[in-house]
Amino acid sequence: MTDKLIIFDTTLRDGEQSPGASMTKDEKIRIAKALEKLRVDVIEAGFPIASQGDFEAVQAVANVIKDSTVCGLARALDKDIDRAAEAVKGANSTRIHTFIATSPIHMQEKLRMSPEQVLEQAIRSVKRARQYTDNVEFSPEDAGRSDTDFLCRIIEAVIDAGAGTINIPDTVGYTLPAHFGQLIAELRSRIPNSDKAIFSVHCHNDLGLAVANSLAAVINGARQVECTINGLGERAGNAALEEVVMAVRTRQDVFPCHTELDTTQIVNCSRLVSSITGFPVQPNKAIVGANAFAHEAGIHQDGVLKHRQTYEIMRAEDVGWRANRMVLGKHSGRNAFRNHLQEMGIDLNSEEELNAAFARFKALADKKHEIYDDDLQAIVSDTLTTEHEQLKLVALKVCSETGETPHANITLSMNDGTEKSVAASGSGPVDATFKAIETLVNSESNLLVYSVNNVTDGTDAIGEVGVRLEKDGRIVNGQGADTDIVIASAKAYLNALNKIFTPLDRKHPQIMP
Ligand code: KIV
Ligand code: ZN
Repeated sequence: MTDKLIIFDTTLRDGEQSPGASMTKDEKIRIAKALEKLRVDVIEAGFPIASQGDFEAVQAVANVIKDSTVCGLARALDKDIDRAAEAVKGANSTRIHTFIATSPIHMQEKLRMSPEQVLEQAIRSVKRARQYTDNVEFSPEDAGRSDTDFLCRIIEAVIDAGAGTINIPDTVGYTLPAHFGQLIAELRSRIPNSDKAIFSVHCHNDLGLAVANSLAAVINGARQVECTINGLGERAGNAALEEVVMAVRTRQDVFPCHTELDTTQIVNCSRLVSSITGFPVQPNKAIVGANAFAHEAGIHQDGVLKHRQTYEIMRAEDVGWRANRMVLGKHSGRNAFRNHLQEMGIDLNSEEELNAAFARFKALADKKHEIYDDDLQAIVSDTLTTEHEQLKLVALKVCSETGETPHANITLSMNDGTEKSVAASGSGPVDATFKAIETLVNSESNLLVYSVNNVTDGTDAIGEVGVRLEKDGRIVNGQGADTDIVIASAKAYLNALNKIFTPLDRKHPQIMP
């Protein structure tokens, strides 16, 4: 049996630091449950000191997750560590992840601290975290640009102080695979107590090398990889979980380790994260892109038909791709609906949510005769997204006629519970609808992105609309789904506005107070 490679998922923390990817508590719980089904070893649920909302989300995840370890991030500050400990304490297995920057540029320009002060604060923080849990992880932030001698000193000291996992972050995605692999090998061989800790890596994708760097580290002895679903994360993102896991599994001739993930849950997780954050997955994305297992050129198809392995190194079903089955119809009942969602890995939290999703399903079945898995995924996601919104679409009538200016009449349920109606015209029906909404809401936000995708084939398909808004430097994404794309557009715009109107007073982990 080879070593186990620990998979530490940070979709809910670093992934959420992606502009526009912020998630509500309920959304985080849904993703955490999907990650638990995927059997990730550690879920980094957030940065509890960031805000009261972040604290409550981490606490809620800790209270529902049973099998994975739940981790909270903390800067190397007493108040952060105390807050992280409080947030994760309900979990069966807890971890505190504390970090401080060690590169010359970060120590001088950001922290304004000497290396000796950084060393002292790191030791103190690990000791404090150990008062709450035996499972403490320490990261020297920007390790990729830190001095190796200093890394050796600080890592030796924090292992002595009780850190069981040492995570080496390439915070700015600067390193190259050969050098990063070499760095891990050197740290492991030079640090006298390195055998007392598990070495981990956390790579950003600024040069498109996050997965390659992580794998080079694994070959050189790292036994934990920090990664995110779909590679979500700050700037260009983090190492994509699905790519790391499938590389290790597919190239067992190279990797002296294995993961214990249920890889058949990968596609479900990818879709869920994409639909909650509004970050679409590009079609040619490895493992989870729509074309990842599609063969177009005749010669490839011929080869695959004769012998699958001529052009396939993995099986689509091993990562959870299934034929997009026609599953339910107009006469399907509530139980069939519930069972089918469970089979798809979709767990609803309450009977209320089930009823709301079932009502949407019935309405859809009246319009569209064949309902597919992807339709269900879209309506469930849409139902759960709009359920707790304050600003809601009540009615919409649009008129679009050759030679005439399109106009829209809209009624919204406002934040104070009253209903208001207005009419507006625009260059097209969507433009008229957005202008009508703005007349009522007056958000003064800028529309950065508007996109429409059909969920299944055919003109009767559900359209999924994505909207990205910016206001005072803050970016939010909104989604909406409906067979009528103007209605889907209105919902997506309202979804984004609901987020813009939710005050956000949160600290960023990489900014010191
Ligand atoms: O990229 C980074 O350095 C981080 C740390 C908090 C581990 O996200
Ligand atoms: Zn990071």
